[in-house]
Amino acid sequence: MAEWSGVRGKRVLMTGGTNGIGLAAARELAARGADLSIVARDQARGEAAAAQIGAAGGGRPVDVLLADLSSQASVRQLAAEILERYPRLEVLVNNAGAIYSSRQLSEDGIELTWALNHLAPFLLTTLLLDRLHASGPARIVTTSSDAHQGAHIPFDDIAAERSYGGRGFIRYGQTKLANILFTTELARRLQGTGVTANSFHPGVVATGFNRNNGLLMQLGMTVIRPFARSPEKGAETLVWLVDSTEAGAESGGYFVDRRRVLPTAAAQDADAALRLWELSEQQTRAGRTA
Ligand SMILES: NC(=O)c1ccc[n+]([C@@H]2O[C@H](COP(=O)([O-])OP(=O)(O)OC[C@H]3O[C@@H](n4cnc5c(N)ncnc54)[C@H](OP(=O)(O)O)[C@@H]3O)[C@@H](O)[C@H]2O)c1
Repeated sequence: MAEWSGVRGKRVLMTGGTNGIGLAAARELAARGADLSIVARDQARGEAAAAQIGAAGGGRPVDVLLADLSSQASVRQLAAEILERYPRLEVLVNNAGAIYSSRQLSEDGIELTWALNHLAPFLLTTLLLDRLHASGPARIVTTSSDAHQGAHIPFDDIAAERSYGGRGFIRYGQTKLANILFTTELARRLQGTGVTANSFHPGVVATGFNRNNGLLMQLGMTVIRPFARSPEKGAETLVWLVDSTEAGAESGGYFVDRRRVLPTAAAQDADAALRLWELSEQQTRAGRTA
């Protein structure tokens, strides 16, 4: 794989760049000389974040691209806009994510946590893969979580019609497991292409995570908050995966505090990773394989 020269002058696309871990990482990457494009679902929030990121980057412009990532039409429109706008794309960070305390459906009729946390990264990545490849060396980083522990992909109940429980935590864990399985299968398909794919756990981080849920869930976060990391600390592994020379030699890994660690046995199941990939193709009808 070609030598990585750091993120300076590279185009970085960050989903979930308006808040929390993604915003902190985008600020740090801009400070290191990257050209940032953030995905926002709300123009005003996007512009507010872009102002912060731009200031950290010494005034270099930051692009705001609008998309609701839970909608496949919106993800496709976003990908088309990116391909139109950027002849080069060296880094894709799939970071946007959420938990939903009650089961909801996306506009495509897909359970919402699955649509946003797993299918959006899958679809966006597969749609941008040729451009990443052509811009190589390139890196794809996906924000997963240790919440994958104890989870299994419910292939016999993929819409979580029977198994949605634990105030959304069980489902959330499944989607974070899906992030790891997606990353390992993606890395396998990308071997030798100059494009790497890794996922990571940011720690327990004090962000806006869970603010979309009811008071009880938010109360839980308020209790955890004093023990949680800052968004800047939570972003450290992401920034390292994007920017460091060392991480350029890694692909298919799951990282915690910049160290490659083994995720659970379910997350190392190559057959499940392949099955998930094929299922995700059906669910998105992406029409292309890596
Ligand atoms: N916080 C933790 O302790 C923790 C631990 C492990 C993993 N994670 C993971 O870290 C990632 C970032 O979360 P965070 O903690 O930084 O939470 P956050 O502060 O709530 O940030 C979530 C980001 O995702 C965006 N987003 C949510 N739904 C979206 C949609 N439908 N379309 C487009 N963007 C959407 C949000 O945009 P808006 O600004 O519009 O809301 C925001 O930018 C997630 O994948 C999460 O699973 C977090």
